[in-house]
Amino acid sequence: MKINENFLKLESSYLFSTVAKKQKEYQEKHPDKEVIRLSIGDVTKPLVPAVISAMHKAVDEMADESTFRGYPPEHGYDFILNAIQKNDYANLGIDIKTDEIFLSDGAKSDCGNIGDIFSVDNKVAICDPVYPVYLDTNVMNGRTDIIYLPCTAENGFMPQIPKDEIPDVIYLCFPNNPTGVTVSRKQLKEWVDFALKNNSLILYDAAYKAFIVDDSPKSIYEIDGAKKCAIEFCSFSKTAGFTGVRCGYTVVPKELVFNGQSLNPFWARRQATKFNGVSYITQRAAEAVYSEDGKKQTEDVIKYYQRNAKVIYDTLTNEGFKCFGAVNSPYVWMQTPNGMSSWEFFDDLLDNCQVVGTPGSGFGKSGEGYLRLTAFGNYEKTVEAVERIKSVYGKDK
Ligand code: MLT
Repeated sequence: MKINENFLKLESSYLFSTVAKKQKEYQEKHPDKEVIRLSIGDVTKPLVPAVISAMHKAVDEMADESTFRGYPPEHGYDFILNAIQKNDYANLGIDIKTDEIFLSDGAKSDCGNIGDIFSVDNKVAICDPVYPVYLDTNVMNGRTDIIYLPCTAENGFMPQIPKDEIPDVIYLCFPNNPTGVTVSRKQLKEWVDFALKNNSLILYDAAYKAFIVDDSPKSIYEIDGAKKCAIEFCSFSKTAGFTGVRCGYTVVPKELVFNGQSLNPFWARRQATKFNGVSYITQRAAEAVYSEDGKKQTEDVIKYYQRNAKVIYDTLTNEGFKCFGAVNSPYVWMQTPNGMSSWEFFDDLLDNCQVVGTPGSGFGKSGEGYLRLTAFGNYEKTVEAVERIKSVYGKDK
């Protein structure tokens, strides 16, 4: 038996596992200290009442033989695909058909699995820093031809279109994880035009679109021509607090044709073979997000997290820290104080303030010197965390 040696090329532990392990070790050594976690982008508010009541109803249906459901349709029940189509696309004036939408257990799995449908020989462009899933899953698959697109303070954390090399596949995520910046329509159009011109595929992660408050595009398909060059990943995790429930969807337009093959049946085939669909209860829960009550209630939760982002950003900025993101995003990307490296500041912050962030360098080389803080915590704890940071690293110190 030969192992997949590509795994040896990875960091031995996934970034968020390392961070969680460090927090656990600290907490075991200091059981009396209250650690505040602003690291992984995991939600803390409960599911909204409209979702809970839809789930209860679905559980009751599962308890009765006349309404019980077994295997779901492999790509999602019509009721949820119709709700997604209407609310997330038709309402934006975008023509996406229900058989171009594939329901799944979340954007992370789909972003990781999508590499099954394209060759290992492709040249892949990813941002640096980046959500580690894009890079790690390409390494696992044996793709080594990677173009890094540095996103730094100098370029406003915006990936620049490569000049010397043409990538076959381009990962983009807006609003961005981890930097929190978002893309304008004009900038996104430049990427779409570049992909169309060079026959490249854009993999667009829109998991954080619910945080957009201005005119930034919520979907890449708002840009003309994107249906010919882009796959889009969406998630109910950050939109509706489904990190533990698990549900997302991926759009693979039929117009997406490479080497004379439409990618839509490729993804349909991949999913039908390796994935057995999302549970009925979860699909009803997701449908409820689009009900009148569900929309209003989830918007209120997003506003709650946006208030957290603002308090982190405003407090730290007033204290002289350089911070980015926070608007259109649940993440604040802060420069470390006193020239500390990301991991030095992570350790220092844990020791001195009992606050956990995510070291920027864990997202890539260009993330060195930054720390990511999430706004998905409880408001009072978030305020307490930034007050602690202020008392140790603030301008009076
Ligand atoms: C993050 O913290 O970057 C996200 O929570 C990770 C994820 O969505 O998988």
